Amino acid sequence: MGEVDPAFIQDPEHRPKLSPIQVEGIPTIDLSPITNQTVSNLSSIESLVKEIGSACKEWGFFQVINHGVSLTLRQRLDKASRMFFAQTLQEKKKVSRDEISLIGYYDTELTKNVRDWKEVFDFLAKEPTFIPASSDEHDDRLIQWTNASLEYPSNFRNLIEEYIEEMEKLSFKLMELIAMSLGLEAKRFEEFFMKDQTSFIRFNHYPPCPYPHLALGVGRHKDAGALTILAQDEVGGLEVKRKADQEWVPVKPTPDAYIINVGDIIQVWSNDLYESVEHRVMVNSDKERFSIPFFFNPAHDTEVKPLEEMTNEENPSKYRAYKWGKFLVHRKGSNFKKQNEENIQIYHY
Ligand code: SIN
Ligand code: FE2
Repeated sequence: MGEVDPAFIQDPEHRPKLSPIQVEGIPTIDLSPITNQTVSNLSSIESLVKEIGSACKEWGFFQVINHGVSLTLRQRLDKASRMFFAQTLQEKKKVSRDEISLIGYYDTELTKNVRDWKEVFDFLAKEPTFIPASSDEHDDRLIQWTNASLEYPSNFRNLIEEYIEEMEKLSFKLMELIAMSLGLEAKRFEEFFMKDQTSFIRFNHYPPCPYPHLALGVGRHKDAGALTILAQDEVGGLEVKRKADQEWVPVKPTPDAYIINVGDIIQVWSNDLYESVEHRVMVNSDKERFSIPFFFNPAHDTEVKPLEEMTNEENPSKYRAYKWGKFLVHRKGSNFKKQNEENIQIYHY
C-alpha cells in the first residue's frame, strides 16, 4: 500500500477511538433449532423467530452460531484467500476489476470520498445469465472471471462455489426467519431470489496500517443489498453503530460464528421496521486482517418497494420503488468516482 497518502485520512469526527470502551455487543443467536432437525419443534422456532426480530429491530446486526456451515470449508476458503492476496500486486492486477467487469481485484475504493485501507477480490455467486441491453447511462455487462489460466490458487473457484452454496442455504433460512419475524409467510421473500440473483462474495484483506488513528479499513457505510453474512477472522476491527445511542460498538470475533446484517433492501421491504445500520472497520498497526462477506441480493430486475403487508393507511409507504439492478450498477460504478449524496441514498419519499 506504500506510504500514507492524505486520501486515506478520515475527517476528525470520523476517526476511530483506538481503545473502545467495553460495551454490550450485538446479540448472538443459536440456530440449532433449525439446523438440528431433532431439536426442531414449534416452540423453539417461535422463540428463535422472536430473537431474530428483536435483533433486527434493535441492532440491525446479530451473530449466529450452530449455523450448519462446515468449519473445514470456511478454513479452506480462508487459506485460499490468504494465498490469493499473498501474490504480487502485478499478479493480482491480472484479475482486476474495471468499469466494465464490476467484479475482480481492486485496491482503491472510496467510501464517502475517503480511501479505504484494504484490498479486495469480488466474485459473483452466479454466472450472469443476462447481458442487459445497455441502459441510458451504463452498459452493465458483468463479466465473470472466465480465464481459467488466471485462477490462483488452483482450486479457488471450486472452493468459492462450494462455499457460496452453503451461504445461499443459510441466507434462505435466515430470510425465512426474518419473514416470520415480520408476521409474513416464511417463503415470502423467496420469489426475489429464485432467478438471476446478483449475490456475490467478497474477499477483504486489511494490511497493517501505520496510522490506525487516522484511517479506516472501510469507512462508515450501510450495505445496499438484502442480507450480508460475514466471516471475520480473529483480529477484530468491525464496529457497528448502536441504534440506542449512536455509539460505535466493536463486534468481538467469535470463532466459527457468522455476523449477519440487514441491508437497505430489507429496510425498504419492511418499510423501516428493520433498518440497515451503519458499520465500519478499524485497522491495526501490527496485524493484518481478513474477512469474507457474502452479499445476498435479489434479481437484477427486482423492483424494490415496501411490501404491501407492511404498509397501511396509518403507516404509508416510505419509499419510492427502484430497480435494484440499476441502483447496483449506478452505485458500484460510482465507487470509481467521487460520490455525492444522491448516488448513495435509497429513494425516500
Ligand atoms: C464491510 O462491511 O464492508 C466489511 C466488514 C468487515 O470486513 O468486517
Ligand atoms: Fe458492509
